[in-house]
Amino acid sequence: MRLSSLFLSPFESTFSDNASIGIHPFGDEAYSLAEIPFAHRINLENLETLETVNVHNVLGLVHHTAHLHTWADKVYNIGSKLGFSLRPCYVVVEMDATSKLTTSSPFDEPSGKSPWSTAKIVATIPSRWPLKLGYMHSFLITPNYFILVEQPLSIFMPKFAVNQLSRRKPLASSLQFFPDEDTCFYVVSRNQANNPQCQVFRAPAFIYFHTINAFETKIRDDDDIIIVDISCYDDPSFIDSMYVEALENAQSNPDYAKMLHGRPKRFTLNCTSGQITESKVIVNIGCELPKINSEFVGKPYNYFYAMCADIDANNPGKLIKVDVVKNTFKTWHEPNAFTSEPIFVPAPNSKGEDDGVLMSILLYGGESRIGPNRSTLVILHAKSWEAIAKVDILSESALPKCLHGWFFPDEHFKETVTQDKVTVS
Ligand SMILES: [Fe+2]
Repeated sequence: MRLSSLFLSPFESTFSDNASIGIHPFGDEAYSLAEIPFAHRINLENLETLETVNVHNVLGLVHHTAHLHTWADKVYNIGSKLGFSLRPCYVVVEMDATSKLTTSSPFDEPSGKSPWSTAKIVATIPSRWPLKLGYMHSFLITPNYFILVEQPLSIFMPKFAVNQLSRRKPLASSLQFFPDEDTCFYVVSRNQANNPQCQVFRAPAFIYFHTINAFETKIRDDDDIIIVDISCYDDPSFIDSMYVEALENAQSNPDYAKMLHGRPKRFTLNCTSGQITESKVIVNIGCELPKINSEFVGKPYNYFYAMCADIDANNPGKLIKVDVVKNTFKTWHEPNAFTSEPIFVPAPNSKGEDDGVLMSILLYGGESRIGPNRSTLVILHAKSWEAIAKVDILSESALPKCLHGWFFPDEHFKETVTQDKVTVS
């Protein structure tokens, strides 16, 4: 029996299985995920749940992220496990992503074995603390490395267990921030032949949810340098900003915007010298839910896209295109409209990193609302940065603000668009 079973089983029935953070493709299948040890395979045509995978039963994980990476025909994710040493550990999980849907029943029956049946742990990194796990929402991948960033914002597992049993407090109430401790970058070799080697880099404390991208580079021939870009915050008060009470009082709280003050930063990790270069602000604007052209994950890149996190800025609901080479940015906004995560879709036979479109859902405030249940899908030309199409979505109830999505090509979808409007029920 796993130690984690002793820990988790009494609470398993108290876990929500609401996997509402993101969707990720595994070959032609798609799963919805959150930071709970469950994943739901979903029908992409009607979004019904097809089956639920208990990831704790598969791998013994007590947590995994909703920010996976696809690399060739594999999908990678990170999670956490408990060990007998009382020192929890982080793991990197590898799964096949080769399933092809049958033509007769494209959304109901996977043709091959479940990707979860191929899941295996390819790297294990112990937490720096006994009984505590660093909170990790996302991670990075390059051709030769996995990069896990352990911020000094930890989940104290005994308190988490008590809170879980009481069902009264969210995960955030189990978090402890140690401002005097470093943020650790664990750089893990992907070369299985040598057993995964881990090199640790330490930087002054910062907080993050979302990594942006990482890539390998050289200054001299014998260099082995990794560039890491992350949306960083100086302290954990932005987590407090998401409590319902804080949201309700946001308009009257003059310090509310300060809670969300973060900036995208670049770190340079020199694997040859073991040195980390001090972080550098990429652009002076808050960027959240960053996305890039997925063809450039783990590679040198030029652009990322994000929504504005500076809620006290003029037109705070803006979209941002950041040039990480020139350290410049452009914004796009519509008055009284608030954007969601931008999703980049490359043009067919794309001829450049920003040759494609960006899609985002607009939610409206004030007089722009034009009815309580109107939202709009806006499509921007990523290179010219102009809106080229908008589709109004009239729903039976107001759409909630979304977190993470994914673009799935339409080859299997029935035609559901009529005229210039889509009706969502
Ligand atoms: Fe996220």
